[in-house]
Amino acid sequence: MSTTTTDYAQGFATLSEEVSLDRLPLRGALPDWLEGTLLRTGPARWEIGASTLTHWFDGLAMLHAFSFAGGEVSYANRFLASRARQAADAAGRQVYGEFATDPCRSIFQRVHALFRPQATDNGNVNVARLGERFVALTETPMAVEFDPATLATLGFPRWAPGHVTTAHPHADRASGEAINYTTRLGPSATYRVYGLSAPGAQPRAIATVPARPAAYMHSFGLSERFVVLAEFPLVLHPRDLVLGRAPFADCFAWEPERGTILTVVDRRDGTVRGRFGTDPFFAFHHINAFEQGDRLVVDLCAYADAAIVRSLFLDRLRGEAPRGDGVPDAFLTRCEVDLASGRVELRRLSETPLELPRINYSAVNERSYRWVWGAARGADAPADAFIDRIVKIDVDSGAAATWSQPGCWPGEPVFVAAPEATEEDDGVCLSVVLDGGRGASFLLVLDARDLSELARAEVPHHIPFGFHGQFARGR
Ligand SMILES: [Fe+2]
Repeated sequence: MSTTTTDYAQGFATLSEEVSLDRLPLRGALPDWLEGTLLRTGPARWEIGASTLTHWFDGLAMLHAFSFAGGEVSYANRFLASRARQAADAAGRQVYGEFATDPCRSIFQRVHALFRPQATDNGNVNVARLGERFVALTETPMAVEFDPATLATLGFPRWAPGHVTTAHPHADRASGEAINYTTRLGPSATYRVYGLSAPGAQPRAIATVPARPAAYMHSFGLSERFVVLAEFPLVLHPRDLVLGRAPFADCFAWEPERGTILTVVDRRDGTVRGRFGTDPFFAFHHINAFEQGDRLVVDLCAYADAAIVRSLFLDRLRGEAPRGDGVPDAFLTRCEVDLASGRVELRRLSETPLELPRINYSAVNERSYRWVWGAARGADAPADAFIDRIVKIDVDSGAAATWSQPGCWPGEPVFVAAPEATEEDDGVCLSVVLDGGRGASFLLVLDARDLSELARAEVPHHIPFGFHGQFARGR
């Protein structure tokens, strides 16, 4: 049952029902060329038995599909049948440790939980396509394969060895291979960069880099020649694992005196081109990276520090605990590395807050680019507000266009290029928006050029705020 509210807390309420709905009520008109399916994942259930998971990132994953065909939109959702969810349902309690909620209590159990092969596979962060196959991903190297037509869980393909990874693999422009890295924890932690051609395939080792110590990194940069690991000073000490200071998120310490280190790995031979230090900052999301002669450009959504992680605990987001200063803002920030001198220049490119960034990936990733779309809290919004607008930022000038509507709370805008587009921004942005006034969500279709609204398709219930999705053409 939906409830009407102008607060965003409803976006963190559990959604229990699985549905399949044809022909959602549609306002406006879709572009003729928009045929395909927006596949998204996100946390949807935080209650297990008598207990509640404590962090936005920890909720059990649900897949969502918005399908576009013949000018109509259909919607379906389904819980991911991860091993983590199956174990929780069977036991009536949380079994697998998540990002900030860990069921283990003893030191032995906790260390065991982190190092055991069956780390959580609750793929609530992102979906990825490798060839014709789709997987749901979290931050352990334990992918869950699903059927994009039915959203049914298909299996648990072998992934890459390691303990922690990102849910943001890049796609190699030439081969389509997924590029990613895992962190292998332990007394001598390492980052292992690899390529993967298909779910279950043998990973192709690209590089192994010592981690001194391991940093928490949610994504990384990929230029034509380099893999860029931005090691923020949010670090994991092996001693904390031994002492059992869990949950996992609590094992990381913010140590700004370390600064941020850009570790630049040559994709061709796996050598480290350099480790380039700059000021301390934190980011979840890289936006793009590219080379210009001897200069390497790395763009990210940068926070002043890692306070964002603490601000996303569920009791605050649900309004059950004081929200304090709310959720910190991230800004489009450029790290420009002079590979010859090792000097790094760090500068903010726009004063418009930006998170959940998307670019015209197939056209401009690894290349100089102009446009980034994202979702953010407006600079003029109340301090305790949440993401309340979609923005498009001109990387060259810092100027921004905005879509917002009072009482509405949008998510990541997925850019879909128009067929045969000649301009970088010719396409649409697709975003799932919570309409607090209606107590339900809708799928918003914007013209990516100016963020004008083309159409919205209304869902009869709320969709909990998720993270990421991908558009699969022609289904
Ligand atoms: Fe992410």
